[in-house]
Amino acid sequence: MSFHPIEQAPARLNRSELAVPGSQPQLLEKAAKSDADVVFLDLEDAVAPDDKVQARKNIIEALNDLDWSGKSVSVRINGLDTHFMYRDVVDVVEQAGANLDLIMIPKVGTAADVYAVDMLVTQIEDAKGYQKRIGFEHIIETALGMQNVTEIAGASKRNESLHFGVADYAASTRARTTVIGGVNEDYSVLTDPDKDGNRDVHWGDMWHYAISRMVVAARANGLRPLDGPFGDFSDPDGYRAAAKRAAVIGCEGKWAIHPSQIELANEVMSPSDAEVTKAKRIIEAMEQAAKEGKGAVSLDGRLIDYASIRQAEVLVEKANQIAGG
Ligand code: GLV
Ligand code: MG
Repeated sequence: MSFHPIEQAPARLNRSELAVPGSQPQLLEKAAKSDADVVFLDLEDAVAPDDKVQARKNIIEALNDLDWSGKSVSVRINGLDTHFMYRDVVDVVEQAGANLDLIMIPKVGTAADVYAVDMLVTQIEDAKGYQKRIGFEHIIETALGMQNVTEIAGASKRNESLHFGVADYAASTRARTTVIGGVNEDYSVLTDPDKDGNRDVHWGDMWHYAISRMVVAARANGLRPLDGPFGDFSDPDGYRAAAKRAAVIGCEGKWAIHPSQIELANEVMSPSDAEVTKAKRIIEAMEQAAKEGKGAVSLDGRLIDYASIRQAEVLVEKANQIAGG
């Protein structure tokens, strides 16, 4: 390990993160009763400009009046380039900050953006005498945000998670796609012809680099990386595949832009019984190896060593967190 310690953000179950527009009070009520680990109440892109003021009021009421127990609750404020943002923070934190776990900052571009919101939130928390500190979630969804993702990840003690906002990221990087998440047939590899002249097309994941880069910045700063939205809520298999791709490279959760995606996210982002059993066997085998003075042994015909213990512990720790959560 490096001599540089990585301080971990507070542990919080975050397999699913449900998005709900603040302009629709009936959906806020449903969200509070859902099985989502985290719900974010949206003031940004799911709310039309004319509805922003009412949405803010609805969210304050929902935070104060609904029962959010068993889950974490976040508010997605408007971007720092809008005139809505300061009042989002001031009104929501002043009037409902005691019931708020997280603030989600969209389109964050630089560490200074994080600093600005931190300053505002800190002043309000101090003025109101809140004991609990509100955490930050950042959506990495612009070319600037991705360029500065490492500095953003380390910019505040409040930081808890980074989220890949695929739709805005596509727009910002001018990617030629209009779907929200998922794959694109134009991002593919054509194999050379075989002896009969047949060629295969292998679809790739056009978001692989972006998500991987964000995962590294998040983990190097002790934060949770999450994959963002998958727009086609009538395609559970496509959602599951996207969530699995994100999970295997280190994401802890995925957004649900529709209630039907909550269960899928919770399922995919929880290690399976078979994975946990295997992880426990690895730990036991390595304990036995240590007693015998060995650093590496074989299990089921494969080499395992001390790095295997660390891999296995990640899975067992996650399973324990879920069981306790
Ligand atoms: C989320 O905000 C996205 O732009 O995908
Ligand atoms: Mg966005």
